[in-house]
Amino acid sequence: MTTLTAQFDVPIGVDSPGTCRRAVLAVLAVWGYQHDDWVADASVVVSELVTNAVQHGAGSVQISLEAYGPHVVFSVADGSSVVPRRREPDGRGGRGLVLVEALTRRWHVEEHEGGKRVRAELRLYPDADGPPPPPGSAREDPLQA
Ligand SMILES: Nc1ncnc2c1ncn2[C@@H]1O[C@H](COP(=O)(O)OP(=O)(O)OP(=O)(O)O)[C@@H](O)[C@H]1O
Ligand SMILES: [Mg+2]
Repeated sequence: MTTLTAQFDVPIGVDSPGTCRRAVLAVLAVWGYQHDDWVADASVVVSELVTNAVQHGAGSVQISLEAYGPHVVFSVADGSSVVPRRREPDGRGGRGLVLVEALTRRWHVEEHEGGKRVRAELRLYPDADGPPPPPGSAREDPLQA
């Protein structure tokens, strides 16, 4: 059984968050995920997590997307094993993970090749069944895998 998946490496630089956001939204659009409000939320989550990987992480950064009906999981891996933690927002930041928590169903961090991967399950796509799944695709929840 399969799900819709995409994975790509992020060129590190000041443009990384914007470049990734455009790439992720393009993939989601190809898969049929185009509802304005849902895409706006997804866009913020992508930007914050990629910005964090570039600013606070280390090594190469890799994006992955998994989709099955209304369930979409966005992941960002980097080479640092430091686990991101929400902190009290102050004048220097601390709002990124607050936003991610507010705009996702859940998120967590897992070990990944000596570094870590932040996995965020986006809000359920508003069309009850999501875009039509490809033939033979699974509707399992990968966060439980
Ligand atoms: N990929 C990461 N690798 C290591 N540490 C991280 C990572 N992402 C976040 N963190 C840690 O978690 C903290 C909270 O992240 P958060 O995005 O909420 O705030 P911020 O990045 O400091 O500020 P802001 O996002 O508001 O500009 C960061 O300050 C950092 O210490
Ligand atoms: Mg941040």
